Amino acid sequence: MSAPTCDIKLTVNGEQVAETVEARKSLVDFLREDLALTGSHVGCEHGFCGACTVRVDGVIVRGCLTLAVQCDGARVETIEGVSDAGEIADLQAAFEKRNALQCGFCTPGMLLTAQELLSSGKVPSREQIREHLSGNYCRCTGYQAIVDAIEEVIRTEVIHGQG
Ligand code: FES
Ligand code: FES
Repeated sequence: MSAPTCDIKLTVNGEQVAETVEARKSLVDFLREDLALTGSHVGCEHGFCGACTVRVDGVIVRGCLTLAVQCDGARVETIEGVSDAGEIADLQAAFEKRNALQCGFCTPGMLLTAQELLSSGKVPSREQIREHLSGNYCRCTGYQAIVDAIEEVIRTEVIHGQG
């Protein structure tokens, strides 16, 4: 017996998408397998690691805990779209400069999570940056450099922007 399917329509990185998906398919599997958007990674598949982070209607979510069918009518943004739009160019440059990535597996999720913090317009302490990133695991344990990079962007953009 074939698995039940649903027809969904959504916007992915600004483009209209209409697909038939298995009802049980996760959003991250849909993005990777059906749309070839492989920047969102699959790690734990249990909501712990944050490798699958994507944005749905402007809010970051776990792509492994979200079903593709739940995104019918939604606006989905992946690391590819956010990167192509130039939205995280400064964060990407700071990650590179600070060596804030090693294997890069966690990096898309880290960048989207960091961007959420930046877009809040707040000036978080180092401890608050760590707290905000606490749902994103880096298996290479590069946390120090990751926090350094985010702190640098906040210092140069948010604080400078307020002045
Ligand atoms: S793969 Fe989704 S949180 Fe780990
Ligand atoms: S850079 Fe390897 S998991 Fe973070």
